[in-house]
Amino acid sequence: MKTAKKQKQDAEKLFQQRFGEDVEILRSKYRDLYGENEKYFNDLVEIVKNAFADRKASLRELDLERLENPGWFLSQDVIGTSFYTDLFADNLKGVSEKIDYLKELGINYLHFMPLLKTREGKDDGGYAVSSYIEINPKLGNMDEFEALNDQLKKDNMVTCIDFVLNHTAKEHEWAMRARAGEKEYQDMYFMYDSYDIPAEFEKALPDIFPELAPGNFTYYEDIKKWVFTTFYEFQWDLNYKNPFTLNCVIKDLLVLLNKGVDVVRMDAVRHIWKEVGTDCSSLPQCYIIVDILKTIVHMVSPGVIFLGEAITSSHDVLKFFGTTYSGCQSMYNVGLMGALWNTLATRDVRYMSNCIANGPELPLGVCWNNYIRCHDDIGYVLEKPEIERLGFNPFWHEQFLIYYYKGDHPGSFSRGELYSYDEKTKSARISGTLASLCGLEKSLYEGDKLQAEYSTRRIILMFASMLAYEGIPIIYIGDEIATLNDYSYKNDVEKEVDSRWLHRPKFDWERANKRYNMTTYEGQVFQSLKTLIHTRKQDSIFHADVHTRVFDTWNHGVFGTFKKKDDDGFVFIANFTEHYQEVYTAAVKNVGFNGTMYEILQNKELDLNTEKISLKPYEFLWLKVKK
Ligand code: GLC
Repeated sequence: MKTAKKQKQDAEKLFQQRFGEDVEILRSKYRDLYGENEKYFNDLVEIVKNAFADRKASLRELDLERLENPGWFLSQDVIGTSFYTDLFADNLKGVSEKIDYLKELGINYLHFMPLLKTREGKDDGGYAVSSYIEINPKLGNMDEFEALNDQLKKDNMVTCIDFVLNHTAKEHEWAMRARAGEKEYQDMYFMYDSYDIPAEFEKALPDIFPELAPGNFTYYEDIKKWVFTTFYEFQWDLNYKNPFTLNCVIKDLLVLLNKGVDVVRMDAVRHIWKEVGTDCSSLPQCYIIVDILKTIVHMVSPGVIFLGEAITSSHDVLKFFGTTYSGCQSMYNVGLMGALWNTLATRDVRYMSNCIANGPELPLGVCWNNYIRCHDDIGYVLEKPEIERLGFNPFWHEQFLIYYYKGDHPGSFSRGELYSYDEKTKSARISGTLASLCGLEKSLYEGDKLQAEYSTRRIILMFASMLAYEGIPIIYIGDEIATLNDYSYKNDVEKEVDSRWLHRPKFDWERANKRYNMTTYEGQVFQSLKTLIHTRKQDSIFHADVHTRVFDTWNHGVFGTFKKKDDDGFVFIANFTEHYQEVYTAAVKNVGFNGTMYEILQNKELDLNTEKISLKPYEFLWLKVKK
């Protein structure tokens, strides 16, 4: 047995041998932010060294495997779900008992929504973290988390956790020390004696939660200071202009990674750098910080990837992508998410097709994180030029979508609620579960069987569209069993003002138990999704390196995409309307497909020599080149 001292020395030696070059790369990135700052840089290297020494053998083995296969997450096999631990399974121990349910669906990537210790009372759904290195005691403890990760790894499953790097709860030790007057900690936040600088900031800053938390600063009478609070008052923004902040945050992040985390969700990453006179969003320094973090993570735990959360235009989202070794490896595909909802409401696929056709090509080694909805509200983030090109007014079009999904537009099938309505701009986002937004709630309430059938088809169509696209698909738990909105949050004082709780219900196991009964909506959605997932997993045409191209189906109601790799090919044709539609096979032949194709979900042949393809309401086809 090696002594602890000897182990540390060995690790140190290995560190010098392996990372001499990486430390220099790190130094140059660090310089871009902080200039020459030997003291903090040396502290940082020390933090990295210690974390490297602390990494346990089983994780090191995995690291080596991933060094051989750095694109592990690009595989079509990776299918994710996100959930609040307490709502899904009460606590971490509960999750380990529910893994079979997830496996049954084909899930192997678990995004645990905020797990860390938060403030008491309102905590923004866990995003008001009071300690980065403690698990929320209501959910378990760090040993349990580590044990769960070990268990998941044996099953080839991966763990994603949120890292809320923009802010801490005002009850975090750093914030409390700042409040108690310790200068070193005050400098970790943005604190001002007068409103002069905040006033300058406010001139260009939008409100993130205009209804619930207007303004971006909060005044604290006891310390006579204004504090930067982009989100809620109880979430204090961290000041990364101070290299000490970065060191403290990195130190904690590495502790978490050494517990077996595989994917770090970089929460609200576009907000982490602030400059007066800007909207403090997606500034270049945000990327440098992420890049520094990734360089370090690559040393300590290679293969761990970053998922960036930036709910903004695709132009800004793109800025955060790096390569395998830099920046973020995956970003939320806000564009596709918004476009899917837009298409479902308008029954017109042109906007989505144009966005994909004119959208960015991702660099090699990174991929999208695809989703239909998540724990947050749906913000459409429409690409204005594309809307205008189709002859629509972006403002009025967004108003249409907002009220369509709220259920206030004539003919709407949806039941949603507004989120963050902004009186000034009339803008709002939408809350609601997938099933309720797709019409199931309304049709069941009205006892309209045909509409309920269409709603189910819409849900499945949304899943099929997401799974046909390249990147990591993430399903919000409960959507696989057509969970409806949960209005009970209105009776909870800590939640009533935040409509996002509408679509974060407690997981309903009774509902899940209906998943084998194909006469139920739960059964139809679950089994269809399961088939889609299992079909995708088996076919490398869905690997993230094989990009999706759109083609014109010559029918505005029908979406068409294809992928090609060597002599293999895939075509997705989807009717986004409740009417029967036809597509000329010539449209498919036009992009280079011929002869007979094979529908892989229905195990049916499709002869492209016939003139037309007929599609039932909301029907879609997953066609493969027949070999
Ligand atoms: C992210 C989270 C959201 C939270 C916000 C502030 O956007 O997804 O739920 O409210 O950050 O932490």
